[in-house]
Amino acid sequence: MSRLLVTGGAGFIGSNFVHYWIARHPDDRIVVLDSLTYAGNLANLEAAAQHPGFRFVHGDIRDQGLVESLLREEELDSIIHLAAESHVDRSISGPDIFVDVNINGTHSLLKAARRAWMENPGTDPERYRFHHVSTDEVYGSLGPTDAAFTESTPYSPNSPYAASKAASDHLVRAYQHTYGLPTSISNCSNNYGPYQFPEKLIPLCIVNLLVGKALPIYGDGQNVRDWLHVDDHSRGIELILDRGRVGETYNIGSRNEQANLDLVRQLCRSVDKLFAERPELCDRFPEAPPASGRQCKEAIEFVTDRPGHDRRYAIDSSRLEDELGYSSTTDFETGMDSTVLWFLENEAWWRAVMDESYREWMTDQYGQ
Ligand SMILES: NC(=O)c1ccc[n+]([C@@H]2O[C@H](COP(=O)([O-])OP(=O)(O)OC[C@H]3O[C@@H](n4cnc5c(N)ncnc54)[C@H](O)[C@@H]3O)[C@@H](O)[C@H]2O)c1
Repeated sequence: MSRLLVTGGAGFIGSNFVHYWIARHPDDRIVVLDSLTYAGNLANLEAAAQHPGFRFVHGDIRDQGLVESLLREEELDSIIHLAAESHVDRSISGPDIFVDVNINGTHSLLKAARRAWMENPGTDPERYRFHHVSTDEVYGSLGPTDAAFTESTPYSPNSPYAASKAASDHLVRAYQHTYGLPTSISNCSNNYGPYQFPEKLIPLCIVNLLVGKALPIYGDGQNVRDWLHVDDHSRGIELILDRGRVGETYNIGSRNEQANLDLVRQLCRSVDKLFAERPELCDRFPEAPPASGRQCKEAIEFVTDRPGHDRRYAIDSSRLEDELGYSSTTDFETGMDSTVLWFLENEAWWRAVMDESYREWMTDQYGQ
């Protein structure tokens, strides 16, 4: 039985990870620590809150004293660190909070883990694990024919977000090397699935279609990302916690490279198909293109590119596959259909997060 601290567990990946973990490890203790920024949402954890082993703590990863006392009081043996400022566009308009939360916050968490877990000489490091969830964006941008990122690709972060994640990866690695803190790191490609805040490409486009807005595509739409269903990400983390080597980094991806424009066209096909299968959706979402006989792809609109927009990411997860038997199991079309369906069935969820600050953000970013 494990006793987990999940930081950022009220966010997109964190809440999916919590649901995934509870379903597969019902006897484990899970404590979520989350400061509930605009991206954190207690509604994401409603189902988990029914579970007897679950506890939510409203707090900040930068509060070292709080984290230390939680680790001791709850006798937690694993930290799955997801809490972060996570949106590249926001890091361009306001980088300070990214430096503070992603770098200083991770450092504060490392210090707390070191004190709580390693202050007694002779502590068995095998008992503990600090797993840091990071991104493929730390590796920079690839040309069209470059080989995919491996774990030994030199770091070359281009956005303030990617730079802050890169710095946090280095701190985690240094705490393992210098102090023997039992850490591991995963660098993952773009995730999609339920509970994703509608500022990120896929939920933004689904919601915009349903409310009759344009689908903003940066530049020429040919920026390529490797898209992974969030449950496959959770499975990768689970394997690393279970059998991954301490001090090691693992890439997590799905060999599913998609240009943004192709991805949005696939999403449009999913929405068109669901509206054709369920005519009642036209009454629920009268502003959506299919409700007036149009195809969703007609809503695509090209907008000025993001400054410094990385052209291509591709991730080689051979280490995870060969050492730990990982493979991603959700094929892209099925994953996209189920994600669209989730947003159709959870209208109250996304309407609630589209508050005034969301509308201000959309106006600043896309003039919508
Ligand atoms: N979304 C992706 O495609 C992707 C891909 C690879 C890696 N990642 C990484 O995975 C992690 C989770 O990403 P996400 O998309 O779920 O992000 P998210 O923005 O949806 O969620 C982040 C969560 O962290 C919480 N948080 C922020 N600052 C905090 C603080 N100071 N103290 C406590 N909690 C705080 C927020 O309230 C929110 O619940 C991040 O570290 C991100 O870098 C994301």
